[in-house]
Amino acid sequence: MPGDKPKFYLTTPIYYTNGLPHIGHTYTTVIADAIRRYKRMRGYEVVMTTGTDEHGVNVERAAQKAGVPESEYVARMAVAWKALWDELGIPADEFIRTTDIRHVRTVQWLFKLCRENGYVYKGNYTGQYCIYDNAFVTDAKPGDNCPDCGRPTETVTEENYYFKLSAFQKPLLDFYNKNPNFIQPETRKNEIISFVEGGLKDLSITRTTVRWGIPVPGEEPHVFYVWFDALTAYLSAVGGPDYEKRGFWPCDLHLVGKDIIRFHTVYWPAFLMAAMLPVPKQVWAHGWFLMDASKMSKSKGNVVLPRPIANMLGMDAMRYFLMREVVFGQDGNFSYDALVTRYNSDLANGLGNLASRTLAMIEKNFGGKIPKPGPRLPQDDVLAKVASEAVGEALERFERFEFARSLEAIWAAIAGADKYLTSEQPWAMGDSEADMQRKATILWTTAELLRVVTVLAHPVLPDSTAKVWTLLGQPGKVSAVELDGLRWGQLVAGAQLGKAQALFPRVDKQEAIERIEAMANEELNPTQPPAPAAAPAPAATAGGVAAPAPEKIGIEDFTKVEMRVGQIKTAERIVGADKLLKLTVDIGTEIRQICAGIAQFYEPEKLIGRKVAVVVNLAPRKLRGVESNGMIVAASVGPEGRPVLAGFPDEDVEIGARLK
Ligand code: MSP
Repeated sequence: MPGDKPKFYLTTPIYYTNGLPHIGHTYTTVIADAIRRYKRMRGYEVVMTTGTDEHGVNVERAAQKAGVPESEYVARMAVAWKALWDELGIPADEFIRTTDIRHVRTVQWLFKLCRENGYVYKGNYTGQYCIYDNAFVTDAKPGDNCPDCGRPTETVTEENYYFKLSAFQKPLLDFYNKNPNFIQPETRKNEIISFVEGGLKDLSITRTTVRWGIPVPGEEPHVFYVWFDALTAYLSAVGGPDYEKRGFWPCDLHLVGKDIIRFHTVYWPAFLMAAMLPVPKQVWAHGWFLMDASKMSKSKGNVVLPRPIANMLGMDAMRYFLMREVVFGQDGNFSYDALVTRYNSDLANGLGNLASRTLAMIEKNFGGKIPKPGPRLPQDDVLAKVASEAVGEALERFERFEFARSLEAIWAAIAGADKYLTSEQPWAMGDSEADMQRKATILWTTAELLRVVTVLAHPVLPDSTAKVWTLLGQPGKVSAVELDGLRWGQLVAGAQLGKAQALFPRVDKQEAIERIEAMANEELNPTQPPAPAAAPAPAATAGGVAAPAPEKIGIEDFTKVEMRVGQIKTAERIVGADKLLKLTVDIGTEIRQICAGIAQFYEPEKLIGRKVAVVVNLAPRKLRGVESNGMIVAASVGPEGRPVLAGFPDEDVEIGARLK
């Protein structure tokens, strides 16, 4: 029963809506998702919040540039953020938008509490203001130019509400002292303590020069300014003023990048203390993923996008890389080279290879049923010990958020199994009773290690471990296994293996990188509205549904389309693109590479030699990063638009003949 479980509440930052997610944002959300899955396997009822930070001058400007009202602009962006997290399998339990009414009410309520308790006063804020951009320029001195438009700033004074942050120096230092785990990692803690010891200035928390914000009730045109608004979202997401009913406050863990740790460990607890509300238990600051040693930004053109990586290598590969490659808390460099190298070595050759060869041997020798082990030899016990040690080490490391070390421990067990198989050589044994019994023990032992590793790696590799679990024929879902009860020896013998499937097909590094980059390029600079991946005949409408009467064209328009008879020479599936086949097609004058969205309906082998109609003068384009130079014509049949290739069954047509 959910009510009996201990609760765990964790958050990512609430991301700005003036841009779209890149790998840096994805990093925080992936970590949060892995912790959520881990905590669930430890028996907690977990809520993970993420969302969008939608107010402020930057949004006003971006909306203006896009020529739409702010509300419409942020609504579109919020949909895009949420949709991407859903698509990547890292959805929020609570997706909070700072324009949600539940959030607006919570901010206004928090302000009221702070004010009633005497921590808010009205004052004046003087700063450098850019009259062209309608915004204060932080940290500018009189005489400085606006960093955005380069024009001179003016000294402007406006009325603000101030929060008495200065009153919280001692309470905060006492709080850090009493809660030594509040700020993590340790190095950040020292940084924050010395900042607070240096003295705290009161903080302006409202603006009258910004329009797009939450109004301060009865005090318009005051609106709340950045952090008082944004931080409160964590509380709004789990009930706001009614937080006690849901029972998820105080928050157990705020995951943040190192750039925003001060706001979370100084301002946020101070706001809550002023309102006499419970303070979060922990703030964990991770480092940045850098590209060529600098922080990613769209203007520098060095952003890495998550979707192309997930399309090419699978989301699990991206998760594994992000959590394995750098020490959590420190900065790390992102490189496609390192990503694909890890994919091939740790996932394809490591986990993937161990699973496929173990299962194939069980299939071949024991009719696809997990064998019952026979008597054990010392080397079998050694492997059991390797696995049991991995359980202890991996869980202990994960608990401390040492994700890379946790994964290292799991992969050490995989290496142990590889070594065991290499020395035991079950494939070299015969069919005698003694050999079969020995093989049963070896394969049971290896499969048991695979099961243990699958459970341990599940929070990081949710999709592929769920597949391995099914392949192993184990009962229930791997996500439902309780980590506390994970022991050596629980593999159910006699279980029927699931149908074999590839987990991590090996990829060619150069080709994979080129395809990821091409997809990223296409996403960042879309050239044309996406054409159908399949090649429906121009006149066909799905399922015969009447389309609006098309404009009539003259024959000269039709002759612009050069269609010729082609013959398929090769056909193969494309890793990371379930619907596409990569074909080479002889069109008489040359052999072309063409992608066609027919993979779900045509077996590649059966296409070889088939004659098809090809549009040959179509501009080349990349589909899922693979160059396609032409289009195969197909009818689009039924409501789902099943492609049926146009062909020439009755006549022996010449390759290259033109269709007129
Ligand atoms: N809206 C504020 C946060 C308000 S929280 C109450 C904000 N948003 S943001 O869109 O700029 O996202 C910042 C967060 O994204 C960082 O704290 C970090 O978690 C993540 N990252 C953004 N770029 C990153 C890297 N290059 N590397 C790792 N994480 C990064 O600040």
